[in-house]
Amino acid sequence: MNCSNNKLKSITKAVVPAAGKGTRLMPLTKAVPKELMPLGKKPVLEHIIDEIAEAGITEVLFVISEEKTAIRTHFGESLNGIKFDYVFQDEQKGLADAIYCAREWVGDEPFTVVLGDSTIETNQVVSPYTRLIDAYRDTDAACVIAVEEAPLEEVSRYGIVKPMNGVAPLFQIDGLVEKPTPEAAPSRYAIAGRYAFDPSIFRYIEQTPTGAKGEYQITDSIGLMLNSGNPIWCVALGDGETRRDIGTFEAYFEAFTHEMRKHNS
Ligand code: UTP
Repeated sequence: MNCSNNKLKSITKAVVPAAGKGTRLMPLTKAVPKELMPLGKKPVLEHIIDEIAEAGITEVLFVISEEKTAIRTHFGESLNGIKFDYVFQDEQKGLADAIYCAREWVGDEPFTVVLGDSTIETNQVVSPYTRLIDAYRDTDAACVIAVEEAPLEEVSRYGIVKPMNGVAPLFQIDGLVEKPTPEAAPSRYAIAGRYAFDPSIFRYIEQTPTGAKGEYQITDSIGLMLNSGNPIWCVALGDGETRRDIGTFEAYFEAFTHEMRKHNS
């Protein structure tokens, strides 16, 4: 069924998955949740909340775990006009499962997902995240995904989309695949940790089998949504716009150094 025609278009909610184990950053993540590690002078999640606030979102749900209640202690109930809520993901079974934990809080409204370990830097007046929310409002999309062009040798780290009719700042896709080999990748456009969803995504998550890494992958849920006839659109990051994923020590050190240079220049 295509639910997108009668959809409620304005989005006020963001779900921030931050319950992952952070195994690639062990042993540091035994002491500090990955999402609270410093990026320059403040925790990664504060940069992300700034991005969310700037887009006019007023409600945020953090998906956390028993090991990561420091996130709740840090943010409390509200900041900068945003109201915070928290839900626990009992077992870390993948991003689709983390998003599914938000279903009651989301209800029957469209919502966004903003990964708790990725920032997006922009030199544009309108951020990619705001453009994504606008694209959801202005198109027939049941899902809009932010994407960034990645080097071919790195496509196997990401979800990769298949453009339908070429690529523009805003384009429609007719396929997507999680962590493909360079040979199998349908393009070099990698999912950049920001999504807007029609609430029908929860039905597709329920039907999603385990995928890459033996986890429930949201890329596979979006694939099911697409195969059921729902239009899926992408917002491409432009020149001077960069996603910084702090999931590995190498990427974290690079992001940290970059942030400190901005302060010192
Ligand atoms: P990642 O896969 O990058 O985080 O998920 P991870 O699982 O913590 O990392 P590794 O592989 O063990 O090193 C991206 C975001 O989704 C959240 C993470 O907390 C991170 O912010 N996530 C991931 C969940 O909330 N639950 C999950 O089951 C998986």
